[in-house]
Amino acid sequence: MQNLLQIHPYFTDGRGKLIALEALTDIFPFDIKRVYFIYDLKSENFRGFHAHKNLEQALICINGSCKVHMDDGNNKHNFFLNKPNQVLTVPKHFWHSMSEFCDNTIILVLASDHYDEKDYIRNYKDFLDYIAKKET
Ligand code: TYD
Repeated sequence: MQNLLQIHPYFTDGRGKLIALEALTDIFPFDIKRVYFIYDLKSENFRGFHAHKNLEQALICINGSCKVHMDDGNNKHNFFLNKPNQVLTVPKHFWHSMSEFCDNTIILVLASDHYDEKDYIRNYKDFLDYIAKKET
């Protein structure tokens, strides 16, 4: 699961750093149809706790830091994001949650499709059933 975390190249010079994100590359193998970001996060709260049936996403912690818990139904892994050049892919069929936000954390999310509540699996048991059905 470690290979879901990639380090994006950046341009740097005396003025600072610049990262350009382009769709349909090794880092974003999907087209980007939606961008959203979450901010004003409280360290004691969790977000996420769902999986998607079809949506592919990439998370970038562009400011601050957070923990992302990923679970494919068989394996679990925690990622710590604290640099804006870390790109964490969240493939479809991965249960994921985010927590332990430090002050002023902003998480940018690039998504392969528009928002569709029907694409969400929000119950963990339904998620495990979905994965079990997929594997048979
Ligand atoms: P939710 O999926 O619960 O957020 P998180 O995964 O970070 O815990 O979304 C919170 C609310 O925002 C919910 O009412 C759905 C809405 N929403 C949209 O309308 N469009 C979007 O693109 C997203 C991601 C959420």
